[in-house]
Amino acid sequence: MINKANVYDCSIVELPVNHREKGNLTVIENVKDVPFEVQRVYYLYDIPGGESRGGHAHKELRQLIVAASGSFDVILNDGKIKRIFTLNRPYQGLLVFPGIWRELDNFSSGSVCLVLASQVYDEMDYLRDYDLFLKWKFE
Ligand code: TYD
Repeated sequence: MINKANVYDCSIVELPVNHREKGNLTVIENVKDVPFEVQRVYYLYDIPGGESRGGHAHKELRQLIVAASGSFDVILNDGKIKRIFTLNRPYQGLLVFPGIWRELDNFSSGSVCLVLASQVYDEMDYLRDYDLFLKWKFE
């Protein structure tokens, strides 16, 4: 059951790095480096100091979250257990399953949060109320 995912199903994925004297390059190929078909890419940037993002779960969406620049914390919560991941490497992604409440905070100045998503944007896929999330998850 998709809503039964727990925080231990979510993990850091190591992405390939092409090292060069002139700098590094990381490529993420559909299905190969990310375990789903990518339908959408978006990124958060210019996040004011002290601001937090997220505060919702998804019913079906899978995501890979990457700190393309800088660092931030992702707090995952399956309704029972919380796990905090500090993302600060552009060659690592955090795989987030559906049915996991997430919050993002502690954004460093100039950080960029890159998100690869398994579906196009659909507001109906969001659970934005924590009590409704718990109801959806456990009832
Ligand atoms: P939201 O997912 O709530 O952002 P965050 O979790 O980072 O705080 O999205 C913020 C707003 O942007 C919301 O009004 C919906 C809109 N939005 C889109 O229109 N398309 C998208 O692909 C995303 C991710 C958000």
